Amino acid sequence: MDTRVERIHFAADHIKSVIGDRKPLVGIVLGSGLGKLADAVKDPIVIPYKTIPGFPVSTAIGHKGNFLVGELGGKQVIMMQGRIHYYEGYSMELVTLPTRVMVVLGIKYLFVSNAAGGVNYDYHVGDLMIIKDHICLQPNPLIGPNMDEFGPRFPDMTRPYDLGLIAKAEEIAGELGVKVHKGVYFGGTGPTYETPAEYKYIRIIGGDVTGMSTIPEVITARHSDIAVFGMSVVTNEAHDDYAPDFKNDGEAVVKAADSAADNMCAIFERLIESL
Ligand code: HPA
Repeated sequence: MDTRVERIHFAADHIKSVIGDRKPLVGIVLGSGLGKLADAVKDPIVIPYKTIPGFPVSTAIGHKGNFLVGELGGKQVIMMQGRIHYYEGYSMELVTLPTRVMVVLGIKYLFVSNAAGGVNYDYHVGDLMIIKDHICLQPNPLIGPNMDEFGPRFPDMTRPYDLGLIAKAEEIAGELGVKVHKGVYFGGTGPTYETPAEYKYIRIIGGDVTGMSTIPEVITARHSDIAVFGMSVVTNEAHDDYAPDFKNDGEAVVKAADSAADNMCAIFERLIESL
């Protein structure tokens, strides 16, 4: 068997042995500073990544390293408390391993969240954006021999983010009185923040926000035809006309994400309730 597939099943079998007959419907990836949603999970079983055979351990600030399996919005969910980033030095195989494992566990939906810089001039710190599309300037995680048991060689990317879920989320945001943008997530590798010229480039080519994550998980889920929903929290205004003393600061980004997280968590929970 393909050693990649063996590794995925090895990890999934371990998780199955811990969670028994729980069958998660939704996989959730929590981004930097967005860990609060974990507190809303009822009856959680915590599975630290370090206890899962073959699993990488996240080193990013604001990220824990656990799977959490429990109930949210009346549904069984599996939540990644801390994602694995390419900039940490892991291969795309390892970055996407948790997503593959959640697919093997039978999820039908993947919800992703992240902290991102707002390159769109209408976006401000603390704003939320529903991701309607993305631009991938990270290595494509499907490069390499295709794992046919997961999906086709050339997956369709016409609708990477589920239109039905986007419409429902907009409705929910309206009911909650929460302002949301709908836009395009640009994903680079990081770990550097962008130069002013790069922020301008990202805006010109159609990005609304920019980040260093998310797309590998989305592509991997879409490979297996899992419906995806995603949101970004704008943590900094990512423009090419900084004040002379401006500096991007990782800790400040995590703090800004934290203050906007409550509204995003409410939207995620209500959306899961509606499934
Ligand atoms: N660039 C890239 N990633 C980010 C940013 C940014 O400005 N803010 C939060 N994550």
